[in-house]
Amino acid sequence: MDTDSTALAENEPNAAAQPVHNDDEKSGVIIETRNLSKIYRDFWGRKKVNALKSLDIEVRQGEIFGLLGPNGSGKSTTIKLILGLLFPSSGRVLVFDKDASETSKNERIGYLPEESYLYKFLTAEETLDFYGRLFDMSGADRKKRVAELIQLVGLAGAKHRQLKEYSKGMTRRVGLAQALINDPDLILLDEPTTGLDPIGTREMKDLILALKERGKTILLCSHQLADVQDVCDRVAILHQGELKELGRVSDLLKVQDVTEVHAEGLSEDAKSEIAEVIKRHGGTLKSIDNPTATMEDLFLNIVRESEARPGARRVSAAETQDASDSGQQEEAGQ
Ligand SMILES: Nc1ncnc2c1ncn2[C@@H]1O[C@H](COP(=O)(O)OP(=O)(O)OP(=O)(O)O)[C@@H](O)[C@H]1O
Ligand SMILES: [Mg+2]
Repeated sequence: MDTDSTALAENEPNAAAQPVHNDDEKSGVIIETRNLSKIYRDFWGRKKVNALKSLDIEVRQGEIFGLLGPNGSGKSTTIKLILGLLFPSSGRVLVFDKDASETSKNERIGYLPEESYLYKFLTAEETLDFYGRLFDMSGADRKKRVAELIQLVGLAGAKHRQLKEYSKGMTRRVGLAQALINDPDLILLDEPTTGLDPIGTREMKDLILALKERGKTILLCSHQLADVQDVCDRVAILHQGELKELGRVSDLLKVQDVTEVHAEGLSEDAKSEIAEVIKRHGGTLKSIDNPTATMEDLFLNIVRESEARPGARRVSAAETQDASDSGQQEEAGQ
């Protein structure tokens, strides 16, 4: 995916990374749920599942808000209520200060569903052109926008292939491009990284951040904790339809009363001295060790190296050490 957001910028010459402000959003609140509840009922109106219980959240202009929770906790239900695809059993949802049931608001919303229902026999280009028509875009506008979006989601090489030939990750990218066709102010993403490999996931996250830079408001739901941590400003954690936690990611994850120091090139003596200083000041040294990178960093580095030097196999330092240790043991045993 080309995540440098050029395609977005070209389509909004006057936006220049400024958030979109309308008179009806003076409060800066884009989505507001009030005591929102959803009970799914069966054919005879009997209660089947209490999917959402009295949810009160606000999503503010320009932020990336994450809805987090295990399977079946009510994330997709919340998104569908915001879109007006479902009606609340009680409570309300306001989007752009309008009731969620008002369909006119949907012109300003982009939606990536949990599973995209796209026509398998259309190409990516035809698919996006089709959605452009639904928004009454002119032929010239559609052509320009479709080309920009295909570039943006990294499908330029496959744009003439039918979607039935696409991998899961490629289909997800078309789904995202479709969600952006109307250049929406509010983007709702239901599990945006599902089916993407680590590179696609990183690119999707960069793209989400690039959209935020353009002043878009994004609500995404996921159970991929690392993804949420990387991109969201605030999160709501749901469990069995109930809001369990709400706050800024940085505040929620801060471990109080622990100080982290990162240093390079310290000798063993210097480390002992630091341990002494901590002790002298009444603190407890928890660990003094080399930090570990994330699996994502490791994977992305390997892929980048492999692209730069095809054919070469990278062997980690620890592996080399293990190999030489076992070699020595074998020699000793001979
Ligand atoms: N159409 C439906 N009819 C009956 N029950 C439903 C319906 N849709 C969802 N549910 C139930 O509502 C609850 C919440 O479902 P929802 O799809 O909102 O969860 P989710 O958090 O999105 O889960 P996942 O992570 O698996 O996508 C679940 O118990 C689910 O079985
Ligand atoms: Mg879901």
